[in-house]
Amino acid sequence: MKKACVFVALLLVLFLSVFGVQSQLSTDFYSSSCPNVLKVVRREVFKALQTEMRMGASLLRLHFHDCFVNGCDGSILLDGSDSEKLAAPNLNSARGFDVVDTIKTAVENECNGTVSCADILAIAARDSVVLSGGNSWKVLLGRRDGLIANQSGANSGLPSPFDSINTIITKFNNVGLNVTDVVSLSGGHTIGRARCVLFSNRLFNFSGTGAPDSTMDTDMVADLQKLCPQNGDGNVTTALDRNSTDVFDNHYFKNLLNNKGLLSSDQGLFSSADGVAATKSLVESYSSDSSLFMTDFVNSMIKMGNISPLTGSNEEIRKNCRVVN
Ligand code: HEM
Ligand SMILES: *[C@@H]1O[C@H](CO)[C@@H](O)[C@H](O)[C@H]1NC(C)=O
Ligand SMILES: *[C@@H]1O[C@H](CO)[C@@H](O)[C@H](O)[C@H]1NC(C)=O
Ligand SMILES: *[C@@H]1O[C@H](CO)[C@@H](O)[C@H](O)[C@H]1NC(C)=O
Ligand SMILES: *[C@@H]1O[C@H](CO)[C@@H](O)[C@H](O)[C@H]1NC(C)=O
Ligand SMILES: *[C@@H]1O[C@H](CO)[C@@H](O)[C@H](O)[C@H]1NC(C)=O
Ligand SMILES: *[C@@H]1O[C@H](CO)[C@@H](O)[C@H](O)[C@H]1NC(C)=O
Repeated sequence: MKKACVFVALLLVLFLSVFGVQSQLSTDFYSSSCPNVLKVVRREVFKALQTEMRMGASLLRLHFHDCFVNGCDGSILLDGSDSEKLAAPNLNSARGFDVVDTIKTAVENECNGTVSCADILAIAARDSVVLSGGNSWKVLLGRRDGLIANQSGANSGLPSPFDSINTIITKFNNVGLNVTDVVSLSGGHTIGRARCVLFSNRLFNFSGTGAPDSTMDTDMVADLQKLCPQNGDGNVTTALDRNSTDVFDNHYFKNLLNNKGLLSSDQGLFSSADGVAATKSLVESYSSDSSLFMTDFVNSMIKMGNISPLTGSNEEIRKNCRVVN
């Protein structure tokens, strides 16, 4: 009897060591329940990018902001006074919600009640990268949708461009991501735009020095001072990856080597003393080796997409991404 118990326990340990640590998500999750879902999402993302190339960046960011707040559970898509949409990092900033609605409608028409909003964000993020010129990967699927938004969690957990690099590293560590992920995923800023209010502190009187941030290229300072005058419209935008705006490539890292990072948190990866020089050497590597950047970016996207997913019969598959069923 005792022997049998030990045997069963050993089997269990073996079973868990083989399967337990594996993600519960799989790339073929919808292969029989919704075989065309990838085509449908891709078609809708393609249409959205034809209308506005920047939408690829906006969709990529939605997946990131979803995953960092209590896992990839579609929580960022929920409407309401307690929504994550109203948290500081998202207010007047996160965009693409209408496009997600359009994708969801198309997916529901294909196979209703089957594909989660959280998975739609993961697929749309991948398609956005690919349609912008980046490498592709197989998206792990099978996430389910959460029932609650977490506005305070969004305020505290999402990185701010005013955070130090060490604080940003800590926020990534808190969701199971490391320094490599910080730098590779920051490469997401190879597409998209940011508003003056998020970097204008660098342009005139940086940290009370009476001068612009010395780690910003002087021509770029002059140009941005015109675009973002003091007391001007803080919602005016400019490219995160100057001179390579809509292309998913490693130009973002080349810019950092030339003091042309837009956000303090971008340039800090190369110029700050934080991160024990690890971020700086990764920036250098990615700037000279675009395939290393793409490989690491893809691996980090898969890691980020694996943050605390709801699986099995937990919670629900939302019918409308904005409200719980
Ligand atoms: C490392 C810490 C990060 C910080 C501090 C940060 C901060 C920001 C800020 C301030 C903006 C501009 C928002 C606005 O103008 O309203 C932005 C935009 C963007 N972020 Fe990040 N971000 C970070 C990491 C990431 C990651 C991990 C991704 C995805 C892999 C990402 C993807 C994007 C994209 C694509 C945009 C442009 C969105 C658009 O044009 O609509 N960011 N980010
Ligand atoms: C799918 O749509 C049909 C027809 O409108 C409806 O009867 C069914 O309940 C829906 N299934 C789910 C899971 O939403
Ligand atoms: C909201 O997020 C915070 C920070 O991650 C966490 O401590 C808290 O438990 C979350 N609240 C809910 C209701 O999930
Ligand atoms: C980060 O994690 C990945 C595996 O997920 C690993 O390959 C990489 O070496 C780690 N980077 C650091 C700096 O620890
Ligand atoms: C810059 O900011 C500091 C501290 O806020 C202030 O004392 C100083 O007068 C400012 N300098 C200029 C040139 O505005
Ligand atoms: C940006 O626009 C929104 C909506 O019009 C407005 O409420 C907000 O105050 C503006 N933000 C800045 C920094 O100008
Ligand atoms: C880079 O972009 C900036 C801002 O859009 C523009 O003023 C500048 O002329 C561009 N430089 C080159 C070399 O294309």
